[in-house]
Amino acid sequence: MTNIVVEGREQVELADIGSQAERAKKILARVRKAMLAPNATKEAPRFSPAQLGSLVNLDTRQVDYRAKKGELPGGGLNAAGTRREFQLPEVRQWARELRKLRLRPENAEAITIAVANFKGGVTKTTTAVTLAQGLSIRGHKVLVIDCDPQGSLTTLFGILPDAEVEAQHTILPLCLGEEESIEYAIRPTYWDGIDLVPATSVLFSAEFALPGRQRDEGPSFQFWNVLHYGIEQARQDYDVIIIDTPPALSYVTINAMMASDGVITPLPPNALDFASSVQFWDLFYDLTKELVSRGKTKKFEFIDVLLAKVDASDIATSVVREWISAAYGAKVLPFEIPKTSTAASASAEFGSVYDMKPGSAGSKTIKRALDAYDQFVETVESQMVGAWLRQVVAVEEAQA
Ligand SMILES: Nc1ncnc2c1ncn2[C@@H]1O[C@H](COP(=O)(O)OP(=O)(O)OP(=O)(O)O)[C@@H](O)[C@H]1O
Ligand SMILES: [Mg+2]
Repeated sequence: MTNIVVEGREQVELADIGSQAERAKKILARVRKAMLAPNATKEAPRFSPAQLGSLVNLDTRQVDYRAKKGELPGGGLNAAGTRREFQLPEVRQWARELRKLRLRPENAEAITIAVANFKGGVTKTTTAVTLAQGLSIRGHKVLVIDCDPQGSLTTLFGILPDAEVEAQHTILPLCLGEEESIEYAIRPTYWDGIDLVPATSVLFSAEFALPGRQRDEGPSFQFWNVLHYGIEQARQDYDVIIIDTPPALSYVTINAMMASDGVITPLPPNALDFASSVQFWDLFYDLTKELVSRGKTKKFEFIDVLLAKVDASDIATSVVREWISAAYGAKVLPFEIPKTSTAASASAEFGSVYDMKPGSAGSKTIKRALDAYDQFVETVESQMVGAWLRQVVAVEEAQA
């Protein structure tokens, strides 16, 4: 059928959308290949002695001394043979040896953290990935779960959701009741210390499966606790589980929140995002208050509001920041992630600030973003350490 041209615009048949989608998929696959060249898979960054030192609180002389003593991995020369660098697994080994007090105690479980906000584009996925990387560099073993059918988090790990992920690799079988425990879906990633449960677009059908099961299976089924029970084993196997959620208060998002010990809400300080966050918490409470009154109560170890994509040059920013602080009080973290210019980070859109090569963090804003993320990661880590302590005390009290 021919398209009728109206004022330079073409009408679009449904079938055209199909072929356009196919074309766009091919282009995306090519873009990704070019970005990941020469290996077609992502590579973890290497670390300078100074970077390693700052993670484990040593100066470079002390790093040299420890490395020479041979107790800890000594790194190797970079490709040009000009300076020493450490691989990610080596850095993690140093961190595990020298940051013992910050790591999970033996008789404690993983802390589960959902990154959630039903507004789109507020940096949920960026926050989830950056937090996972920052915690793994510091020695923690991390599981990230992508609960968003868009699969952005999966993409950031160098995996194309539509080409490389099938329904059975996602949390969908868990939601359908075909699986009870998430292990079937866990895969390693290019980043040592981070494993991934990926997502792809068919995961959207979980939004029908969960209420459907509630209808069919009756009150013995708890649609909001499927993920909570599904990660029971993973809580033993990992130090932290980070869940990225879709921009909706969907059935899957409710599962992510109810499975979590902590919630992080990234929030850019602008009026619409603030208004939307107000609605988010209101709706969440409305939907869940009835659920918990039927079962036992739900207590979060922490809820953090992370000011993100902050444009200090925008005069509205400081006003909205005041609203946010009045509304959320002490939940607002005392630092903010600056807005980085897209030009500086265009090729980095397939990665995070921690993916950048040392020295390539050219612009000052990116350096500031990196510093802010370091602070963020260490604050979350402190909250994890606190939650572990409470777990350990509770276990001991139960035994006494
Ligand atoms: N500090 C930053 N400054 C500027 N842009 C950023 C910053 N952090 C992330 N972005 C960009 O903002 C966009 C949205 O980020 P991201 O995908 O993490 O948000 P999201 O909340 O997960 O979105 P969605 O609701 O679609 O899941 C992306 O293009 C990302 O590269
Ligand atoms: Mg996202």
